[in-house]
Amino acid sequence: MHGNDKIEASDKNSFYRELLLQFEGLMSDEKDWLASLSNTSALLYQNLPHVNWAGFYLYKEGMLVLGPFQGKVACTRIEMGKGVCGTAAREKETCRVLDVHKFPGHIACDSASNSEIVVPIIKNDAVVGVLDIDSPSLERFDETDQLYLENIVKKLEEYIDWSKIS
Ligand code: SME
Repeated sequence: MHGNDKIEASDKNSFYRELLLQFEGLMSDEKDWLASLSNTSALLYQNLPHVNWAGFYLYKEGMLVLGPFQGKVACTRIEMGKGVCGTAAREKETCRVLDVHKFPGHIACDSASNSEIVVPIIKNDAVVGVLDIDSPSLERFDETDQLYLENIVKKLEEYIDWSKIS
């Protein structure tokens, strides 16, 4: 758990509805990719319980390159199809991994991580990056987490001017 301004909510749906309100407040009128992805990673890291890494890898020159994040130092480049991030990017589908130790090819950036969710960011049918969140808890992310995190990514796909990333 991180930060002092965590969202108080009695259940997961109301927690995420409140988080989405904060997220939309941060994103409105801001199309700059670095500002928006930086604040999104901080919002998720500070508010999601039992999370030890939250951030982005961005698609550049045929691979995923580390973007804005919160958490421990991470590997900087991931090939498409490698690890959880590269798999989600290649398949263009969310990878929700209940136990990373059972995922073939999982790339361990922080040995504390036990479960992970990676949501691909897709613009005009092409992957422009992924949102990656790690947890020290096994089976941390369920269908509800997936639904709302995909909703956040969908809004990022719309809000950000992805053509400006270099
Ligand atoms: N575990 C990821 C690598 C990135 S770190 O979790 C930040 C993967 O297997 O792709």
